[in-house]
Amino acid sequence: MEALKRKIRNKLPKGTLYFYYLCTAVKACLPDIKRRVHDKVYNNSESDKVKRDLTLSYHIIEKGLTMPVPRPGFGKAVVIGLVNTIVKYQKLNLPEAELEFKQSVSVLKEYIEFHKSIYYQLDQEVTAKLDIIETRFKGIEGIKQIRTNKDEYFQHIQKPFDQFCISRYSVRNYTNQEISLPVLYECIELAQKSPSFCNRQPTRVKIVKSAEKKKAILDIQNGNRGFGDLAETLLVITSVISTTKDIHERNENHLNGGMFSMTLLNALHFHKIAACSLNWSVSNDKDVKIREILNIPNNEVVLLIISCGYVPDEFSVASSPRKKAEEITVEHL
Ligand SMILES: Cc1cc2nc3c(=O)[nH]c(=O)nc-3n(C[C@H](O)[C@H](O)[C@H](O)COP(=O)(O)O)c2cc1C
Repeated sequence: MEALKRKIRNKLPKGTLYFYYLCTAVKACLPDIKRRVHDKVYNNSESDKVKRDLTLSYHIIEKGLTMPVPRPGFGKAVVIGLVNTIVKYQKLNLPEAELEFKQSVSVLKEYIEFHKSIYYQLDQEVTAKLDIIETRFKGIEGIKQIRTNKDEYFQHIQKPFDQFCISRYSVRNYTNQEISLPVLYECIELAQKSPSFCNRQPTRVKIVKSAEKKKAILDIQNGNRGFGDLAETLLVITSVISTTKDIHERNENHLNGGMFSMTLLNALHFHKIAACSLNWSVSNDKDVKIREILNIPNNEVVLLIISCGYVPDEFSVASSPRKKAEEITVEHL
């Protein structure tokens, strides 16, 4: 059957074949695209969306607080937006015990404390908003950002898996100490142990150390402000499309790449290399640019960038607390 299919395929003009694959691809992808569009237009679940907005905003503030050098008065628009979303959450009568709510309030309290500690007078509009947080939510406490040092941060890397796993954080602060290529290859070798579909091993890594190329990439990535320029190495994770047989396997590149990247993050942590994933959720023009910068072939998709470096003696990490397992799990027993 396969041989016959191949024979027919070889006989067909390329244009006809292209059109056939395009129709199959549209048919396969359309339900997912429709589901996503429907969610944006018709999903009226205020609860899901307000929690998403809280997380997006509080995460920006927790990142700002843990930057190598936090900028006084940073994130004005985000702070104001976050207070408004907190007020909206309260008006919707949603539970105050939810992680997103508690953490949002808590991060804003840390924002206030940080500015008090450096005797920086926030502007009036921000102060007026933050007063709401201080007066209405006195009893609410979340998880604070973490100040740590080199020895403390890596103290669990030889410990049992649970302790190792819990000890990894995204680190957004690096020295210029060089990470040697052999060490990077050891980490990539470990990441290669990640499972992949039929062991097809679609994931690829580009090690970027050229200052010019790092800058060009970070300039078009939208989540590295305040720390990206410190990265000694960027690891660009891509995946080979030609390893997939048909359009129904289209998610395998991202899925396999995600599993690979997690092992890679753990391997870097094991080797005392700090790292932070950087999203590659970009518009097509940016994707074209990174392909030009790194000469990435057309049959590879860019999945993720990981900024890496050795840590300074002291640094901060965003606490990024997690929901409990019970909150994200459904049992069908
Ligand atoms: C796919 C992906 C994309 C990410 N993109 C960014 C990014 O652009 N900038 C950033 O600072 N952190 C980014 N992160 C890191 C997350 O913010 C971080 O993993 C999350 O807050 C959990 O914290 P932890 O890694 O310290 O456990 C990304 C993480 C993932 C998995």
